[in-house]
Amino acid sequence: MPKDVIIACDFSGKEEALTFLDKFTGESLFVKVGMELYYAEGPEIIREIKKRNHKIFLDLKLHDIPNTVKKAMKALSRLDIDMCNLHAAGGSGMMKAAVEGLTADDGSRPVLIAVTQLTSTDEDTMKKELLIERPLEEVVISYAQNAKSCGLDGIVCSPLESNIVHAACGHEFLTITPGVRFEDSERGDQSRITTPARARELGSDYIVVGRPITAAADPIAAYRRCMKDFVGDSVY
Ligand code: C5P
Repeated sequence: MPKDVIIACDFSGKEEALTFLDKFTGESLFVKVGMELYYAEGPEIIREIKKRNHKIFLDLKLHDIPNTVKKAMKALSRLDIDMCNLHAAGGSGMMKAAVEGLTADDGSRPVLIAVTQLTSTDEDTMKKELLIERPLEEVVISYAQNAKSCGLDGIVCSPLESNIVHAACGHEFLTITPGVRFEDSERGDQSRITTPARARELGSDYIVVGRPITAAADPIAAYRRCMKDFVGDSVY
């Protein structure tokens, strides 16, 4: 199984993002570009990051009617990204259309993963506002199974859910997990957190780490520490 650290490049502009990335000379990273940076800079930021030989997870969380998502995925497929995502709440029709749109003529495509329930949505909001009565865990597993049956490769979830997702969907089905902190780092606005070493034990396939690396006094040392704890001693 792949195991890698994805750095969340939550910067508001190109200058800031590239200044950060250019600290890592000669290193090939896996970088997450989210809505903030992509909407500010457009496809140009993707080209700039690819020029530096990094892998990209484009985190735009698509959610629309199947035809629109298919066409949007077709456009994203031309960007040379390595991973992208959508909301499983868009349903099977939308997820299947996304796979079609993203797949190139030779059958290749970036890794496609689904967001199940955003961690900002708690059970109370699900019940009162979305009228979803089932327990959160059951909803996450059901969305994960739908995503798998539509041909997606995995889901975004908490490291604390990696085990149950793998039990329900198999070990090949990827868990991409944010909410990671070193024991001695600030938790910021994250509440259910785990360390990189614990995420590894729990079976996460990729961890998404932002501020513990991007806001560290020494980002390179923080990244290496993260890789060592999550991927293992052999990486450095
Ligand atoms: O800085 P931090 O490590 O908290 O960054 C985590 C990244 O993962 C951010 O880009 C955040 O938007 C994203 N994310 C998350 N929780 C989710 C889904 C995505 O923290 N459930």
